[in-house]
Amino acid sequence: MRRRFFRPPLITAGMFFLLGCCMWPWQVLLGREPAFGVIADIQYGDKQGSVSRDYRGSLSRLEQCVEVLNKQPLDFVIQLGDTIDGYATNAVASAADLDSVLSVFNRLTAPKYHVVGNHCQTAGKENLRQRLGLQSFYYTFTVPASEGWRFVVLDGNDAEYGVMSDGQLDWLRTTLAQARQTGEKVVCFCHFPLIKAAAENNHMSKPEPVLAVLDAAAPCVVAWLAGHDHAGGYAYRKGVHHITLQGLVEAPGSTSFARIGLGADRIQETGFGNEPSRELPLCTNEIPRRLSFENGRLWPDNRGVHINAHGGGILWREGVYYWYGEHKIGGKAGNEAQVGVHVYSSRDLTNWKDEGIALAVSDDPASDITKACVLERPKVLFNAKTGKYVMWFHLELKGQGYSAARSGVAVADQPTGPFTFVSSFRPDSSMARDQTLFVDDDGKAYHLYASEDNKTLHIAQLSDDYLTPGGKFIRVFEDRLMEAPAICKRDGKYYFIGSGCTGWAPNAARAAVASSIWGPWKELGNPCVGVNPANGIGPDKTFGGQSTCILPVQGKRDAFIALFDIWNPDNAIDGRYVWLPVRFTGEGFTVTWANTWDLSVFD
Ligand code: GAL
Repeated sequence: MRRRFFRPPLITAGMFFLLGCCMWPWQVLLGREPAFGVIADIQYGDKQGSVSRDYRGSLSRLEQCVEVLNKQPLDFVIQLGDTIDGYATNAVASAADLDSVLSVFNRLTAPKYHVVGNHCQTAGKENLRQRLGLQSFYYTFTVPASEGWRFVVLDGNDAEYGVMSDGQLDWLRTTLAQARQTGEKVVCFCHFPLIKAAAENNHMSKPEPVLAVLDAAAPCVVAWLAGHDHAGGYAYRKGVHHITLQGLVEAPGSTSFARIGLGADRIQETGFGNEPSRELPLCTNEIPRRLSFENGRLWPDNRGVHINAHGGGILWREGVYYWYGEHKIGGKAGNEAQVGVHVYSSRDLTNWKDEGIALAVSDDPASDITKACVLERPKVLFNAKTGKYVMWFHLELKGQGYSAARSGVAVADQPTGPFTFVSSFRPDSSMARDQTLFVDDDGKAYHLYASEDNKTLHIAQLSDDYLTPGGKFIRVFEDRLMEAPAICKRDGKYYFIGSGCTGWAPNAARAAVASSIWGPWKELGNPCVGVNPANGIGPDKTFGGQSTCILPVQGKRDAFIALFDIWNPDNAIDGRYVWLPVRFTGEGFTVTWANTWDLSVFD
């Protein structure tokens, strides 16, 4: 069995020892937790890129990373491979690009470590070894300031693409067994993510033997940090936090890197640019805390399951947000209501607890909401006069396609239900499909719904108990085929987002403003700005999504979030969520794409 010992790259062992001696007392004195910086997929190339893969621009983004990381007290910085994009047939040009990357990366003042990725290989293994100062592409190290922590760097390519050799697996087994014996906590770094849940598109080709080694060494490995899948991701498996960092090459106009703090009981990921932040408890049953909105990604609830509340609406009540939405099942059958309306609760809008099914479809074939009806866009209000929670939704009777065009109403004593179905009908005797609800400052509630075969939107006042239409309504956006209505009120003005009418396929969002809910409503055009790099879709198709509501953030002034669904009609349960901050301009507002963001944008 081969044994590999740590050799700090780029600095000599002697220098490292001195550095360690200098840093240790300071960090003890300051009581600072151990921390390191991490960057993935710089993938620089002195060549033309694409809209999202900006090879050349990666160098200036790396400069920004270096500048920010140099201001942080860090024990080391590690890059997770694919420093260059490379040229398959030109090792010399690849090596030149690698030199350009290193000339920036080496400006980092903290000790530097390297993981080797698949693209790096185009520079040639020997070149890589020399330039990165590595004897081996897999090695282990510790740093004095991070006492009790061991870092293990792995080579995901040493057998073949995405496959580790038996020799490396043996070495890993021995390394982890020793760490386990001495009670060290281990962070593994590898270019390749290990599990699909943490990297939807690209992960290790043969993860099973690696996972077996990790499982056998449990609980010593607490994190697996990887790059490779530029969209990034996160998953938890058997005590190990699998963090896939977003690729720097895919961050035009932004950056993407992280500071990882190593606490006694948690790992704190602080993301910069596109990279999200996360709080990850160690070896407990506690649920990892999400600190940012990760648009278009899987959104795990408190059980780690993707939130199932599509076409949703949010109610805030007594310090808690309740998110109601269509519960979908897998496949095309999920486009019909097989289960009902799902509800989740949250105090911070990023961490959601599954509160179960708020309104269940009925087993009675005679019920309007019998299983396999179409039950969409549920929205819930609290009625202060009756003390009841009132839900409205778009209802289509089972087996009748979209021809019934009704509104359904249900009521409950508690925000999480169970809701009891009350009735379904066509309000003001015309059709009602996509819909939302809105309560004004005076407690009066309004129902906005696509009517007249979706051609014209209606806004109707509800009865005082919110259970029926109150009689008064107006017709707005005549013949505009306005769907997916969402509304909010700020400084006495009403702001609206909607979509055109193209079924599950996305189209351009539309904005409008009015000084009274009764109009006149003035259209403001498309409020969307930017591109969703995961699908390459920009404002012309609303980043691939469709509006569902506008959420006022409690306790913050002028803080509103626009909520969109990215539908997946072929596998309905896999619909994704896009939440973006609304920025008010002179007359209207914009909604700008962000891969990840958090509520601090409103501070
Ligand atoms: C969309 C609508 C969705 C759903 C879908 C069915 O236009 O906004 O809620 O009804 O059509 O095709």
